[in-house]
Amino acid sequence: MLPLGNAASAASPFGKEFIGHRATVGERLWLRVRGSFSGGEGDPMKEDIVVSLAWEEDMRDIWEWRNHPDIRKNFFNTAVVPWDEHQRWFERKISDSRCRIYIARRGEEKVGVIRFEAEGDGAQVSVHLNPACMGQGLGSRVIRAGTEQFLKEIGAITVIARIIKGNLASVKAFAKAGYRRFSEDKDVLTYRYPDDF
Ligand SMILES: CC(C)(COP(=O)(O)OP(=O)(O)OC[C@H]1O[C@@H](n2cnc3c(N)ncnc32)[C@H](O)[C@@H]1OP(=O)(O)O)[C@@H](O)C(=O)NCCC(=O)NCCS
Repeated sequence: MLPLGNAASAASPFGKEFIGHRATVGERLWLRVRGSFSGGEGDPMKEDIVVSLAWEEDMRDIWEWRNHPDIRKNFFNTAVVPWDEHQRWFERKISDSRCRIYIARRGEEKVGVIRFEAEGDGAQVSVHLNPACMGQGLGSRVIRAGTEQFLKEIGAITVIARIIKGNLASVKAFAKAGYRRFSEDKDVLTYRYPDDF
């Protein structure tokens, strides 16, 4: 099983200090600092996106963003997700040792969410922005910051993104974040990071 564990364990490949989603408030604050990543030193455009593990305080934002028509139209499942279903899903995900969800912030503003789930020897990534933050080129910065942080914590594994053909904003955002096209079928493009595996 791929070691995407959130729960601390002596056997955790993340080391004993890793606490994950299930942390106390004090620990979460510490994790937020520790888990912060602002990419692109020397590049002011990239310095202000910070990712940290998502928690229950983020659950409603993620639900509202996910159900926005401009967001869900690009998903494989375009249906509106009811609140109680989302709550169960979110609790399950933040308790799942094979999943990590990060919230991305620009200053105090929550600008997006990025999730990694174990798949085979690697992980699959899924991302969406706060709809109020779309169209500013933030997608690539959230993807890069989230991916860098995830790989920093997990070690070197391959991350796969599956993008519905025609979702050009997503294709461009992943490409700009360093993902490269790996394969395609009738409806779906697969991008991966890093591209030299
Ligand atoms: C994908 C997503 C994160 C990208 O967000 P974003 O950074 O705001 O995207 P932008 O609108 O800035 O577009 C990114 C790039 O695509 C380009 N683009 C957007 N729509 C386009 C279109 N219809 N045709 C061609 N190019 C397009 C933009 O011009 C921009 O190009 P640039 O980097 O050269 O300036 C965001 O759109 C989102 O959350 N989408 C809904 C969920 C989703 O699709 N997730 C990905 C699933 S795999």
